[in-house]
Amino acid sequence: MRIVPIASGKGGVGKSMVAANLAVALSQAGRRTVLADLDLGASNLHLILGVTAPKTGIGTFLSSSAGSSAASFDSVVLDTDYPNLRFIPGDAEVPGLANIKPSQKNQLVKRLLSIDADYLILDLGAGTGSNILDFFLMSTHGVVVTAPTLTATLNAYLFLKNAVFRLLYGAFGQKSRAFEHMESLRKDGASLRTAYIPAILDQVRDIDPERWAIANDRMARFRPRLLMNMLEDPKDAEKAQKIRRSCKEYLNIDIEHLGVLYRDELQDVALGSRIPIIRYKPQSVLSQALYRTADKLMSSEDEEDMSLSLAEIEGGYRTAELEAEADFGAKAAYVEELLSSGALTTGELVEAIRGQQFDIDKLRRENQFLKYKLAKALGQGFAG
Ligand SMILES: Nc1ncnc2c1ncn2[C@@H]1O[C@H](COP(=O)(O)OP(=O)(O)OP(=O)(O)O)[C@@H](O)[C@H]1O
Ligand SMILES: [Mg+2]
Repeated sequence: MRIVPIASGKGGVGKSMVAANLAVALSQAGRRTVLADLDLGASNLHLILGVTAPKTGIGTFLSSSAGSSAASFDSVVLDTDYPNLRFIPGDAEVPGLANIKPSQKNQLVKRLLSIDADYLILDLGAGTGSNILDFFLMSTHGVVVTAPTLTATLNAYLFLKNAVFRLLYGAFGQKSRAFEHMESLRKDGASLRTAYIPAILDQVRDIDPERWAIANDRMARFRPRLLMNMLEDPKDAEKAQKIRRSCKEYLNIDIEHLGVLYRDELQDVALGSRIPIIRYKPQSVLSQALYRTADKLMSSEDEEDMSLSLAEIEGGYRTAELEAEADFGAKAAYVEELLSSGALTTGELVEAIRGQQFDIDKLRRENQFLKYKLAKALGQGFAG
């Protein structure tokens, strides 16, 4: 079973939209797929998928008096109207994931791993809570969704940084010398904030070569993938390079690029209709890009080790930039078609552009402010 956790640092960048639509696309391609809403406390995946408010979900499983038995877990894995697609609702009734105990989380992970399916898609909550990081680390190839704004890309980077630290702590194991070294750095807050992972790993190699080897091996296999959502302009695709470079330099990990998705007004119409966009408007540029993303996921499924070579990773970024150009052209053609068919009036188009302009101006101001703050805080670091 391939596990595809979908995370982001920042909220509202489209994780749930991506998770639901990829799950539908994979199931349409004949893959037995399970989609799990792990955004406990704020679960909304059922709305995107168009499933009527579920009575049971992960929350019920976690708090069930029957304990976390296999049977009680099976009862929260629901069939959907989509062939090959099953759904595990979250449960808004239950307090957030931050409140579940490690033992509950371990039970949940165990049950999730025992699911019989080709794909398990995990829709995670925003932020870098330890439970979220652990769900993300259930796969070496988790997907980080980001928007092209500075806040979103910075949060994507910070999410990955937290994931790497979590991975290292896990690899070192408690009571090891490597672990103690990390802890001493952590207690001396400043040195952990400024220390780069490559430097920390070098120190650990001398202190605890055995644990270093384990960590080094896990780091080499850790290949998160980036998905850039809410593009407005082909140039936005270049922002991915910045995250990639920061991850390489400060975290010593290679990030693959899974591609780009444009912002599309139709997405909120689809959401309002409770139909995933690839079902609502399969021909739209966004839907086609989602299908393309699902194809990329499936294209690596025969390979034992899904990691790409450096040259292939490089190619992924070029491809994403070309996709951004091509989709931009397709978007223009699509609008043209809507206008000529009368499905969209010129007035509506003008209104949409005006709305976008307002958003863009707001983001630009926010970006400038953050850049200023960051430049001060990091010298020539990330914001440089
Ligand atoms: N490509 C897109 N074009 C237009 N709207 C989009 C796009 N992707 C997502 N949205 C919209 O943005 C909003 C946030 O999306 P979504 O709920 O999927 O984000 P999320 O990352 O799961 O948020 P949260 O962190 O709150 O869970 C929704 O209204 C969704 O319809
Ligand atoms: Mg969500």
